[in-house]
Amino acid sequence: MKDNLNFSFLPKHIGFIMDGNGRWAKQRGLERYEGHIEGAKTFRKIGEFAADIGIKCMTFYAFSTENWKRPQKEVDAIMQLFRDYLIEAEERKAENEEKGISLRFIGDRKGIPEDIIKLMEHIQSESSSKNNVIINIAINYGGRDEIVKAVKKIAADVKDGKVQINDIDEKMISDNLYTAGLPDPDLIIRPSGEYRTSNFLTYQSAYSELWFPDVLWPDFSEDDLIEALRAFEQRNRRFGGV
Ligand code: IPE
Ligand code: IPE
Ligand code: MG
Repeated sequence: MKDNLNFSFLPKHIGFIMDGNGRWAKQRGLERYEGHIEGAKTFRKIGEFAADIGIKCMTFYAFSTENWKRPQKEVDAIMQLFRDYLIEAEERKAENEEKGISLRFIGDRKGIPEDIIKLMEHIQSESSSKNNVIINIAINYGGRDEIVKAVKKIAADVKDGKVQINDIDEKMISDNLYTAGLPDPDLIIRPSGEYRTSNFLTYQSAYSELWFPDVLWPDFSEDDLIEALRAFEQRNRRFGGV
């Protein structure tokens, strides 16, 4: 491995908020969906590169519970890209398996076209649990919605007498999120020049380090990821201690 890829430590889990596709397209006089096409290419490139350098868990924010507010044409184009990606992922299953990558999908299935749900479920069920790199794709995902769902599940368990109110703790809530069993994201990267997290991993990001590179997602490169990881290496994470 190249010298510049030696890190003293790496995040166990990185969250990527893939923002800026629309502005990237606009700058070039293209339609917004063309920005999403480029953004999808960046997702493939960065996911593979991060896996190669030893990142074991990543979550890519592809579509939020709020993104349904966009024009139908744009929503349809994003769903079509997602469908294309899933078909390709099925075809390249062996390749991912060889690289030890397993794909998971987080978010609310409601509203997502049936055929896409089938593809997601099929890919997820075929992904080997032996794989050592997890790539989560967050689609129709909202952090608040995820917390509401967790609260409802726990409330139902209380009602059924399976859980006592006093047993409810932070771990129980974590265990009822889509990311159950995964480490919290150590690092969240949001390109595009916006300084917010837009309902991404709301519960899990309580102590995440944040990095806001001034680049639009379609232009986000391997070097931009290395820069984020170098910055992460310098952070002094105290978690409330001294
Ligand atoms: C992010 O890019 C992709 C999705 C939210 C689906 P945007 O489409 O939000 O791009 P900008 O923010 O308008 O540039
Ligand atoms: C966040 O981007 C959601 C995704 C990248 C999927 P948005 O473009 O939807 O966020 P806001 O509206 O700028 O907060
Ligand atoms: Mg945006």
